[in-house]
Amino acid sequence: MICTYKLPTELFFGGGAALQTGEKIKELGLSKVLLVTDKGVLDAGVLGGLEKSLKDSGVSYTVFSEVEPEPTIQGIEAGVKMLKDFGAQGVIGAGGGSALDSAKAIAAMGTNCGKIFDYVGFGKVPVQPLPIIAVPTTAGTGSEATFWSVLADKTCGLKLSIGGWNLMPSMAIVDYQLTETLPPGITAATGIDALVHAMESYTSTNCQPIAEATTFHAIKLIARSLRQAVWHWKDTQAREDMIMGSMLAAMAFNITRLGNAHALAIPLGIKYHIPHGRVNAILLPWVMEFNLPAVPEKYIEIARIFGEKVQGLTEMEAAKKSVKAVKELLRDIGITEGLKKWNVAESELPEIAAKAVKSDNVKSNPRKTNEADLIRICINAMNGLE
Ligand SMILES: [Fe+2]
Repeated sequence: MICTYKLPTELFFGGGAALQTGEKIKELGLSKVLLVTDKGVLDAGVLGGLEKSLKDSGVSYTVFSEVEPEPTIQGIEAGVKMLKDFGAQGVIGAGGGSALDSAKAIAAMGTNCGKIFDYVGFGKVPVQPLPIIAVPTTAGTGSEATFWSVLADKTCGLKLSIGGWNLMPSMAIVDYQLTETLPPGITAATGIDALVHAMESYTSTNCQPIAEATTFHAIKLIARSLRQAVWHWKDTQAREDMIMGSMLAAMAFNITRLGNAHALAIPLGIKYHIPHGRVNAILLPWVMEFNLPAVPEKYIEIARIFGEKVQGLTEMEAAKKSVKAVKELLRDIGITEGLKKWNVAESELPEIAAKAVKSDNVKSNPRKTNEADLIRICINAMNGLE
């Protein structure tokens, strides 16, 4: 097997790491940066320590806080203008996936002409973007360690991905203390997104030894800590496990791609406005059930990670224990609804499946999948676990 693994991002992590943002930025040779975030993060005061470190290190900055929950191509234009007016040499993205993805796109437009729309696809950004410093404040998207920027286009209502190795952040500053004020619902949904990244990478047809190692450990960290991160707001070990699990999963999926849950989550999320983590959570058990016969040995490992007893069982019985464990986790963190709750109509599933089947994530799903399979997965996910 000939493989490649690449991660051109310095990962700087640990409790309090964000307090050294100013010093790290100076190490990159930058003295003037744009801080891209959203109003919620700013108002919650999560970035107080980060901003103080910039000031203490003599790094001048200005804040673009207009990041939308679902960032759009049109929405980043104001950020690009601010970047150019201020003359920033680099971009800090601090927040959830939306802030990080916006920062990548703004950094790309700092050095490339035309419109970001011209660069949709993989490897289409011709000139190296300005340095990107990614500071996640949720544990889920892993955007700090990936090369994708996902933006919606208001005019056509589609989500478009701009990706490429030159969109990798120069540095990721990963500090679990920034996630400590997240409410349970967001911790649950973002945490499950990270778990789905880890599981879909681990079972991907493109999985290779390095991806297998990072995703295996990611599943272990998330399995042992998601419940506590959701319900025990002062459990710092759980918070640290979750942000590390999210990053480790992301370190794999640039290479492996994902699977059927993500293939379906994108069109379902857009059409029915279901938050990304939540729709992945709803789909996960049913995608796992579908995939079990293709890679039972991987699902047995997942069952073991979750502490299921698999000794003495047949291969399929043992593999099914992973689904049981995930359903229990979803119940415990309060995600029990099905697609029906989000007004997904069975009659519209063929349209969703027709879009999802074109996704590269279907190609990396371990079991070969067609549109009828995707429709069946959604039908199974209609009623949820209630
Ligand atoms: Fe995701």
